[in-house]
Amino acid sequence: MKIDGKHYLTIWHNENEDNVCIIDQTRLPFEFIIKKLNTYQDGFVAIKDMLVRGAPLIGATAAYSIYLAAKENENFDYINEKITNIKTARPTAVNLAWAADRILKNIDRSNIKNSILNECKKICEEDIKISESIGNHGLELIKKIKKEKVNILTHCNAGWLATIDWGTATAPIYKSRDAGINIHVWVDETRPRNQGSSLTSYELLNEEIEHKIIADNTGGLLMQRGMVDMCIVGTDRVSENGDVANKIGTYLKALAAKDNNIPFYVALPSTTYDKKILKGKDIPIEERSDDELKLMNGFDQDGKLKQINIYPKNSKGFNLGFDITPAELVTGFITEKGIFKPEELRENF
Ligand code: MRU
Repeated sequence: MKIDGKHYLTIWHNENEDNVCIIDQTRLPFEFIIKKLNTYQDGFVAIKDMLVRGAPLIGATAAYSIYLAAKENENFDYINEKITNIKTARPTAVNLAWAADRILKNIDRSNIKNSILNECKKICEEDIKISESIGNHGLELIKKIKKEKVNILTHCNAGWLATIDWGTATAPIYKSRDAGINIHVWVDETRPRNQGSSLTSYELLNEEIEHKIIADNTGGLLMQRGMVDMCIVGTDRVSENGDVANKIGTYLKALAAKDNNIPFYVALPSTTYDKKILKGKDIPIEERSDDELKLMNGFDQDGKLKQINIYPKNSKGFNLGFDITPAELVTGFITEKGIFKPEELRENF
């Protein structure tokens, strides 16, 4: 996708310096900063501190972190230890463990470093194809909405910034725009980290897609008023039965969509489907620091970036990163292979 008219991927191998470049998402939408990852630890911290986030991008960064470990020491036991370690950086998105295990499976012991680098590149190339294919299948759904303007509601950022390109939930939106459909997006702010207002809106602005940011509690009323035609969200992990782990607040949108008879779709790359976990209640849910609730970033009157505390000094917060939307609230999954109902996933993946 484009920033200021220039096409960027969210992660890439920098051949000249043999390191890895990412876009530091903690600085967006205020500053566009490309950060170089030089060591395994740089990669681990980038995932843990959310310089990169979003399930597919976390997976790709984990893979590249293992490559950076191999640059430090090409000993197989050292690399294997880092493969185990990187899985602890963030627990909910299954793409992290998926990518680490894929690297392990494909290591060529006679050419460790290069075989890991090749696999990292393949993971990224495949992810772009998967997202684009999700976009094409989602477009077919959106085409069926016969309205002058189609209103899509999305939560968090399941966009280009959460993948390598296109995004998952945003891919059908970009494809619809390219197909000439008049599309408007309701962007949930997505407290506490505001991935909607700071990342999704940033992407849509740069791609010139009409959108409005709404407070997380607004979606229900918009649905009651007929102002939402379809919800499309991403996911961090889907269990075997089709329960969906996604950014906290997704479940409430699915409930409101059900109550208002609005289709609720989940954009699901096969890399995020976890057949080993049978039900959503067994998906590990990340608990993060309450600093994310009480500290806000923004520009002051003089245009300087500042962080402020919005809570009473001694109040404590409780900050769960994800929730589980039961399969019965999901109208369908938009995957790279087509659209499936929850009960159809197991036979198709
Ligand atoms: O905590 P985050 O920002 O990593 O959470 C991201 C989400 O919940 C996304 O919706 C999900 O990873 C899907 S991204 C294609």
